[in-house]
Amino acid sequence: MQLLDAEHSCFTVGAPEAGDIDVHLFDLDRVDRVEASDLLDGEQARSERFHKPEDGRHFLARRVLLRQLLAQRTGRAPHELGATPDAHGRPVIDGIEPVRFNSSRTRNWFAVAIHAGERGTPGIDIECSRELPDSGALSRRVFSPEERASLGEGVDPGSDRLFRVWTRKEAVLKAVGRGLSIDPSLITVTLADDLQGDRVDVPDPASGDSWRVCLWDVVDDRAPRGLFLAAALAAPA
Ligand SMILES: CC(C)(COP(=O)(O)OP(=O)(O)OC[C@H]1O[C@@H](n2cnc3c(N)ncnc32)[C@H](O)[C@@H]1OP(=O)(O)O)[C@@H](O)C(=O)NCCC(=O)NCCS
Repeated sequence: MQLLDAEHSCFTVGAPEAGDIDVHLFDLDRVDRVEASDLLDGEQARSERFHKPEDGRHFLARRVLLRQLLAQRTGRAPHELGATPDAHGRPVIDGIEPVRFNSSRTRNWFAVAIHAGERGTPGIDIECSRELPDSGALSRRVFSPEERASLGEGVDPGSDRLFRVWTRKEAVLKAVGRGLSIDPSLITVTLADDLQGDRVDVPDPASGDSWRVCLWDVVDDRAPRGLFLAAALAAPA
């Protein structure tokens, strides 16, 4: 089976004791075509509801690419791999364990993380750096006091440092899978360059307990400057 034509990079991050994650990065503008026969019920109609036709095309490409990747990993037919959201919005496909996945998109970029080991569902986030209209308010809402101290109060709205922290935090939140029921400002990630499996603690507001997650920066020399990518996976006990 052939993946849809697309410029596509694949990396593996991880360590023997921490488990590994395959990260696939696609440029959606290079997807040539999506066949109607590759779509599940309702997807074409949903793609037509996007305000910009380009967003509709990207939506269809993401859905088909994800199923094709997972079909390769599981030996199942793509049309059997429709995902449904769990209680926190994370898409789940029953019956493909131990394969688990997560995805993220920004503009024409689409990233998929796949883990097929014992550490559960990975988390991934991708962001393009850009000028943020109110970086001060964002910073107060999502960064911890330690992160704000490291970033500086007048954090540069489009700075690489801001987006590096952002992607790291979202990858961690997505690995935990609780969405925004966890306040991002309760998580602190380091600002050090090139994280390779660093541990991050995430408090569970419901139990008072915490999760421990390993975190990696994913670096692709072929990606444009200003594209940030991080992946995360539950840490070994
Ligand atoms: C899911 C979430 C955590 C990330 O969304 P996002 O950054 O806007 O978008 P991304 O493209 O990175 O991720 C969206 C994908 O995450 C997945 N997802 C949804 N809920 C999820 C959850 N609870 N856990 C893990 N993954 C989830 C889905 O696959 C979704 O894609 P789909 O709708 O095409 O299936 C969302 O809840 C959110 O709004 N985050 C913003 C948090 C924030 O303010 N961050 C600032 C810096 S920390």
